[in-house]
Amino acid sequence: MQVIIFDDAQQVAKSAAEWVAELINKKSNPVLGLATGSTPISLYKELVNKHKTGELSFSNTTSFNLDEYLGIDGTNEQSYRHFMNENLFDHVDIDKSKTFLPTCNQGENPREQGLAYEDRIVQAGGVDLQILGIGANGHIGFNEPTSSLASRTRIKTLTQQTLDDNSRLFAADEFQPTLAMTMGIATILDARYVLLMATGKNKAKAVKDMVTGALSAVCPASSLQLHENAIILLDKEAASELDDQEYYLWADKQNCKINLEFGLYHNY
Ligand code: F6R
Repeated sequence: MQVIIFDDAQQVAKSAAEWVAELINKKSNPVLGLATGSTPISLYKELVNKHKTGELSFSNTTSFNLDEYLGIDGTNEQSYRHFMNENLFDHVDIDKSKTFLPTCNQGENPREQGLAYEDRIVQAGGVDLQILGIGANGHIGFNEPTSSLASRTRIKTLTQQTLDDNSRLFAADEFQPTLAMTMGIATILDARYVLLMATGKNKAKAVKDMVTGALSAVCPASSLQLHENAIILLDKEAASELDDQEYYLWADKQNCKINLEFGLYHNY
């Protein structure tokens, strides 16, 4: 794991945007894995700005989102499709027919839908860079604690903690889905690079468990310890429970020197 600690959330977003821009500018048919939630909103703002200033075109990009709620459709304002339109897709030149979310509409078979989503990712050439947030309970995507580390795209029942954490986004009388389709942990680990962003004190315990805890389904994000190219971007608050903060800062300086001397090498 490459743990990089920044002073604040804005710097985390700027750094994540650089990773995305590098991929898109380097590869002719980049495949991006996308996340929703509060954390990546500032990343999407950075990407929209880069597009508006002519630095970045998404015209050749294909995207796959981590998850989508069940029981509401893409026109519902609470759907992750709506979130992606509002925060990114409507403001850049991405071809929406190449933006995918793991949906399962009424009457569709979730197993078939899950397999079809996995298949579509493979057909697109696999995810090059998967953006991730982390739940306060250590979930990635909607892979809640005790999700199989070998899981694939499927339906998950959300935990009470996740429902409580996300209830801030729903009005008191609004339907809050309790089920979602989500990429599995094995699906996420298949990406060539994973870039996890975590900001704020309420993520500090989950970040510690992810980086230095035991590899365990109890903390799904700890599965990233198995990934060859896992980049963890943290603000100081999210990093605050890590024991070796000095080491991560020092290692990052060394990596910057190595990159300067030998050039960035990302094997997309
Ligand atoms: C979102 C997702 C979730 C969130 C996580 C953190 O697509 O898959 O894992 O990344 O719940 O959410 P925020 O950023 O709102 O704290």
